[in-house]
Amino acid sequence: MKKNICFGIVGATGAVGRKILNVLEERGLTFKKLRLFASERSKGLKLPFNRESIDVEFLEEADFKGLDVVFFSAGADISRKYCPEAVKAGAVVIDNSNAFRMDEGVPLIIPEVNSHALKNHKGLIANPNCSTIQMLVAIAPIHRINPIKRIVVTSYQSVSGTGLEAIAALKEQSRAMLEGKKPAPSIYPHPIGFNLFPHIEPFLESGMCREEEKMIRETHKIMESPIPVCPTTVRVPVVFCHSEVVNLELSHAIDIIQIRDLLAKSPGIIVQDDPQKNVYPMPLTCQDRDEVFVGRIRVDSSIKFGINMWVVADNLRRGAATNAVLIHQKLVQENLI
Ligand code: A2P
Repeated sequence: MKKNICFGIVGATGAVGRKILNVLEERGLTFKKLRLFASERSKGLKLPFNRESIDVEFLEEADFKGLDVVFFSAGADISRKYCPEAVKAGAVVIDNSNAFRMDEGVPLIIPEVNSHALKNHKGLIANPNCSTIQMLVAIAPIHRINPIKRIVVTSYQSVSGTGLEAIAALKEQSRAMLEGKKPAPSIYPHPIGFNLFPHIEPFLESGMCREEEKMIRETHKIMESPIPVCPTTVRVPVVFCHSEVVNLELSHAIDIIQIRDLLAKSPGIIVQDDPQKNVYPMPLTCQDRDEVFVGRIRVDSSIKFGINMWVVADNLRRGAATNAVLIHQKLVQENLI
C-alpha cells in the first residue's frame, strides 16, 4: 500500500463525508496528508480524525494542488464544477454524485462486481447509486452462473440518503407525531415521520422517478448487459440502511441451496437466512457494517426459474463511503494510481 498519498474529501462534514472519514480511520490506511473541504458554513470547523483534529477548508477558496485522491460527496452541482478541476490538478477523483455516472469514459465501479472497468480510467471514477450497489453486489454472483433475464426490485430507503437535514427532519416529525401534532413537511413533499412514499427524486415523463431510472441505467452499465429492470423506490421512516425486495427471473433451473451457498461464499455478502428462527437482515442490525446482507432466499414459483430475496445494506457505508474507499484500495492494488 502506498504510504505517501494525499487524500481530500469534498463534503467532509456531510452524512457520507463523515462516513468516509470513519472508514479511512477504521481501515488504518496510511497516507501523508488528509484535507477536508465543505461550504462556507463550515469555515473554522475542525473534524476529529485519528485523535487529531483537521481543519475544514472552504472549497471555493481552496485548491487541489498536491492531492492524489479526492473523494467528492457534496452533490452533483459541486461535482460538476470541481471534479474536473481536481483531475486537472493531477488527482484521481472518486465521485459519489450522479454527475458523471453515465458518461462514456467514466468507469462506474462496484469493486466486487466490475473492477476490471477501472483499467482505462482517465482520472475520474464514479461511485454508483446506493440502491444499485447493494442490489448488484447481491445478484452479480448469481448472474455469473445463471444469467438473469429480468429484475423486479422494490426498495425501502432510509432518510440518511438525503443527508443530515433529512435525518433531523425524521426525528423532529416523529417526536411531533408522538405528541399528537401534525408535522409540516420539510425536505420531502410530505412528512416522513410515521409515513412512507413511493417517490425518491423528481418524477420523469416516463412516470418513473429519477432514482428508479438510475437503478436501470446503472445496472446496464455495470453489468455490461441490458437486463430488463422494473424498480419501485420507496422512502421509509428509517434512519440508516436501505432494504430491497429483489425478484429475479433466471435462465435455467435453480437449486436454492446452491444459490444460498454461492452468496455465502461471495465477497462482501453475509447470508442471514433462517426465517423459522426470525433470522433475516434488518436495518437495525446491518447499520455501520460494510457488507450486503441477504435473507429470505426462496423460489418464486409464479414464474419459470424465479427467485426472491431480501437485501439490506448500510446506504452511507456500503452504498457510498465504503464503496469509494474500496475503489481507492483497488486502484492502489492494481497500480492504477
Ligand atoms: P456544509 O456542511 O458546510 O454545508 P449532506 O449530504 O449530509 O447534506 O452533506 C452535504 C455536504 O456537502 C456537506 O459537507 C456540505 O458542507 C457540502 N456542501 C454543500 N454545499 C456546498 C458548497 N457550495 N461548497 C462546498 N461544500 C458544500
